[in-house]
Amino acid sequence: MNTVAEPLLRLAARVDAIQPFYVMELAKEAAKLERAGRDIIHMGIGEPDFTAPAPVVDAAAAALRRGVTQYTSALGIPALREAIAAHYAHAYGLAVDPARIVVTAGASAALLLACTALVDRDDEVLMPDPSYPCNRHFVAAADGKPMLVPSGPDVRFQLSAADVEERWTPRTRGVLLASPSNPTGTSIAPDELRQIVETVRARGGFTIVDEIYQGLSYDEPPVSALAFGDDVVTVNSFSKYFNMTGWRLGWLVVPPALTGAFEKLAQNLFICASALAQHAALACFEPDTLAIYEARRLEFRRRRDFIVPALESLGFSVPVKPDGAFYVYADCTGVAHPAAGDSDALTRAMLHEAGTVLVPGMDFGAAAPHRYVRVSYATAYERLEEAVERLRGLFGRHASDRPDAGSPMRRLPGQ
Ligand SMILES: Cc1ncc(COP(=O)(O)O)c(C=O)c1O
Repeated sequence: MNTVAEPLLRLAARVDAIQPFYVMELAKEAAKLERAGRDIIHMGIGEPDFTAPAPVVDAAAAALRRGVTQYTSALGIPALREAIAAHYAHAYGLAVDPARIVVTAGASAALLLACTALVDRDDEVLMPDPSYPCNRHFVAAADGKPMLVPSGPDVRFQLSAADVEERWTPRTRGVLLASPSNPTGTSIAPDELRQIVETVRARGGFTIVDEIYQGLSYDEPPVSALAFGDDVVTVNSFSKYFNMTGWRLGWLVVPPALTGAFEKLAQNLFICASALAQHAALACFEPDTLAIYEARRLEFRRRRDFIVPALESLGFSVPVKPDGAFYVYADCTGVAHPAAGDSDALTRAMLHEAGTVLVPGMDFGAAAPHRYVRVSYATAYERLEEAVERLRGLFGRHASDRPDAGSPMRRLPGQ
């Protein structure tokens, strides 16, 4: 047997700039408890509990039988790019040239393409803290520097135009935003977004807006950043609104002058997005399928309208009511538990003592990592009700241990 130690492969330095998700540790612990027979309610999950509706599945099966399974154009099949453009006209009243649409393997590939195309080594990119964790990693993968700007409830957990002005330096290249946001479910007000775009434009930078949750807007009709100029890059996906996470399909809308550059990069990095998923996705835009998505959006809104007051009744505070996505960013400093205000310890306790998974804020930034937990309501209404009762029991037990701890819990009307 050869006993000579193999030399360790040296990893590229950029790997150090990418952190693992804390929630994965929690997910592993949850899986262990489930294997041991515990019933766990998953409210950490970032994907819809709904799967692709029947017309999409049927279209995929038909495409498979027709054998349309070979490479497509790097920009995507023309019919899908046209259908996406028509969707902008129908849902947002926006005329988008299909030539500007680049179909990708999910928003993830879209963000990677956008960062590869626009970020040079050491370029700084502004984004809010808290943000979707991969955003800073996409910038780091392009050897840029993600610059997290603490963004609290006063600015809806989003960047403001004033932040952009204040934080812009000669090394800043652009901003990366998400509206509605993961983890907060809050959108940037249209006027603020317009001002951000104008502020960035005046400095010669880029604005990338991830609109992956935009179909899931509950209070006001959503406004795409594309309304504020052809120079904005938007990211979107079939994962969330269209309930197709594992199909790996998304898209970008890029400035007209940049389509050639994005096509060249897409050809080289990915060849194309899944042909089968592209053909199936054509069915998403049929009126019957859109009606199914609308019913599901309303169900998400019903869940939000249940879970926000329910969390408040448990002693969490929700400083900004989420208007989209399927997340609530809840302040845990006031709950009746010894781990109140320590989201890492609290989420572990909620898993072990109440069989409920939430995500600690530390996955989303460094500004207030312990104060917040992300609650996902992408799970059945009855399971949300059950989770609330479990947490009520948990905090109730601790409140009677320590009568001085945390806010008193309130019953919800009708409970
Ligand atoms: C804000 C945001 N952007 C992008 C993604 C990645 O989505 P996709 O499945 O389209 O790659 C996610 C997934 O959770 C997300 O929350």
